[in-house]
Amino acid sequence: IVEEDKTLPDAKRIRLDDTEDITLGSADKPGTRVKVLGRVHRFRSQKDVIFITLKDGYGQMQVVFAGDLIKTYAALTLTLETSLVIKGQMRELPPTAKAPLNRELHADFFRVIGAAAGDKEAITNKVQAGGDPQTLLDQRHLVLRGDVLSSVMKVRAAVLRAFRQAYVETRCMEVAPPSMVQTQVEGGATLFGFKYYDEEAYLTQSSQLYLETCLASMGDVFCICPSFRAEKSLTRRHLSEYMHIEAELDFIEFEDLLAHIEKVICRVIELVLQDPLMAGYIKELNPDFKPPSTPFKRMKYADAIDWLVEHKIDFDDEDVPEDHPERKRPHRFGDDIAEAAERQMTDIMNVPIFLTHFPLELKAFYMPKDPADARVAQAVDLLMPGVGEIVGGSMRIWDYEELIAAYKRVGIDPTPYYWYTDQRKYGTSPHGGYGLGLERFLAWLCGRFTVRECVLYPRFTNRCTP
Ligand code: 4AD
Repeated sequence: IVEEDKTLPDAKRIRLDDTEDITLGSADKPGTRVKVLGRVHRFRSQKDVIFITLKDGYGQMQVVFAGDLIKTYAALTLTLETSLVIKGQMRELPPTAKAPLNRELHADFFRVIGAAAGDKEAITNKVQAGGDPQTLLDQRHLVLRGDVLSSVMKVRAAVLRAFRQAYVETRCMEVAPPSMVQTQVEGGATLFGFKYYDEEAYLTQSSQLYLETCLASMGDVFCICPSFRAEKSLTRRHLSEYMHIEAELDFIEFEDLLAHIEKVICRVIELVLQDPLMAGYIKELNPDFKPPSTPFKRMKYADAIDWLVEHKIDFDDEDVPEDHPERKRPHRFGDDIAEAAERQMTDIMNVPIFLTHFPLELKAFYMPKDPADARVAQAVDLLMPGVGEIVGGSMRIWDYEELIAAYKRVGIDPTPYYWYTDQRKYGTSPHGGYGLGLERFLAWLCGRFTVRECVLYPRFTNRCTP
């Protein structure tokens, strides 16, 4: 153990990204003496010096141990993730060296706070070398300490901040609808049910219906709440619990809805990239990312079907047996464009696409007919390259009788929806809104292969831990 030299100046406690009032010294000129607390992210031992990359969640700092410090037991047995307190002098880097913020800490004292078991690297390396990906998910709490996942989480926080700001700027008010509900929004197939005392209830699939009830008194509204979907299949872009950013706008037409979505998304990107730290993370994670140009491409569903036929991207009809020649056939009007086909199309076009005017029977009960074409709904999906759909939205049926007929068409008992239906009874209005999956937005922005990389602890089929 090396004792602290009490004759040295007091050390100023800083976070690792702190540059305020710090003077960088050199071999013959003293720099500010600082105290830092953090964990070993990487280290490299040489004959008479150890270079440590320390991290504290705010930043990283290169720390140099030399002299008596490297002869200590703690230095000789140092492991990744060990937490330390270190004091020393901030110095300029030697001319050719590289380190975060172009500086390094020359330690004169350190103490181990919590030594780490030396197997973290082994766990993650094993998986990266082609081992069981389940292990990575089981070890998520440790994987979270890596650069990639922690950067995505920091971008996620910045994106959430930016959405809130963009909504303030567009005069939408934040509200918090309930998660435990007794109505469905997006179809019974993906409902998570549970016993609510003695009644049947569900985890919410979307807060849309509740947002609609706020318009009359609060104007345009938004919420950022988890939504839950019991998705049966494992895909790159489906979670059982995801963060749903939803907004509802009063007295609008369909074009206004598209213009608003485009504006909010572009503003969020602009705000996030204005922060140099976030711009840096995004550059690392997704070097090719370019903010989208406006206006976004608009395409009707019927034109997308033609495009798919022309490009020989077939419809995979799951109602037909695997080996039947009709299993894969050209798309037809009325087909639900599947995830793979949608992504192929978006990747080839390589720009955001507003896909609109879907056949009514493919869409939710609350969507109104297009006045110009009764076969299709005034609905929109926003598709992004690499991910596909990140936003789903529509105008809402605002006529009372039409809504009653819509419940009937899909076999929903209107009784528990009385509060939703009432909006059409007390001063109805043309209105619409949308929901955006935060993890899908992040997968696009951060260039991640799956939404599972864009959430702290992913929930999907057969995974509810840690
Ligand atoms: O298209 P969806 O189902 O639309 C609604 O829920 C509307 N009620 C929203 C509204 O108008 N207020 O879902 C909206 C978005 C999708 O575009 C997608 O980004 C995301 O929610 N999403 C999921 N994200 C991750 N995992 C899942 N299982 C998702 N399901 C939908």
